[in-house]
Amino acid sequence: MALRYDSPILTRWNARAYDSSFGYVSAHGAPLIELLDPRPGERVLDLGCGTGVLTADIAARGTTVLGMDGSPTMIEAAIAQHPGLTFTVGDGADFRVAEPYDAVFSNAALHWMGRDPDAVIGCVRAALAPGGRFVAEMGGAGNCAALTSAMRTAWREHGLGEPELPWYFPTPAEYALRLERGGFTVRLLEYFDRPTPLDECPGGAADWVRMFAGALLDAVPPTRVEPLLRRVNELAAPALRRESGWVADYVRLRFAAVRA
Ligand SMILES: C[S@@+](CC[C@H](N)C(=O)[O-])C[C@H]1O[C@@H](n2cnc3c(N)ncnc32)[C@H](O)[C@@H]1O
Repeated sequence: MALRYDSPILTRWNARAYDSSFGYVSAHGAPLIELLDPRPGERVLDLGCGTGVLTADIAARGTTVLGMDGSPTMIEAAIAQHPGLTFTVGDGADFRVAEPYDAVFSNAALHWMGRDPDAVIGCVRAALAPGGRFVAEMGGAGNCAALTSAMRTAWREHGLGEPELPWYFPTPAEYALRLERGGFTVRLLEYFDRPTPLDECPGGAADWVRMFAGALLDAVPPTRVEPLLRRVNELAAPALRRESGWVADYVRLRFAAVRA
């Protein structure tokens, strides 16, 4: 299983902050597990498993699961938290498996693998037995548009140029085409808004940027980080701050496809 990292974002995950403040990511994965419908005795690969919360939920169904993630930090945390399960570091765009899987599952991870989405789909197909399922949810076109627009404006206003955002948020048509060209039959494809309360993020949009775009902040002179993030909050607040707190403008793409 070769590793090839083009993006420093892979090494920037803070597993502890991810679990404590961004646990909503895996908490929203329950319906996806229902869609996967893992059965006892099946072999499932959880691609981009993070700290392994959903990997463990799948294993609890009597399924044999391998959790794979590009971040050694996330895999370390997953092994520590779920010592009975198997995890490995691997790149979704460049991996091979020894034995085929009945299903590949992926929650909130494929949009981080935008460098070569067809390579990811190719690796998933090669990892599946004939008739195997690919069940996943990712950010879709327009995901976090208010957040990213606030980032772009704040970066420009601070003379930092256009930020190179690390995410790939395809339209349903684009991703379905990639799946079909990649040798899958699409059985279900949903594209929906999922406003997501940032209950554990008292710093609002700024906390979200620190978690998910930490690598971009590395390129900002340290003294300018706080003013920049304050400006992100000012710009995002009209769209995202409610009386009850911050709500991120998530848009999801959820699909179930079968290896043709
Ligand atoms: C938002 S987290 C989702 C984690 C987990 N699936 C969950 O539901 O909590 C995205 C994960 O994708 C992983 N990731 C990003 N790019 C990857 C790649 N090329 N190959 C494998 N994993 C990758 C990250 O390291 C991170 O753990």
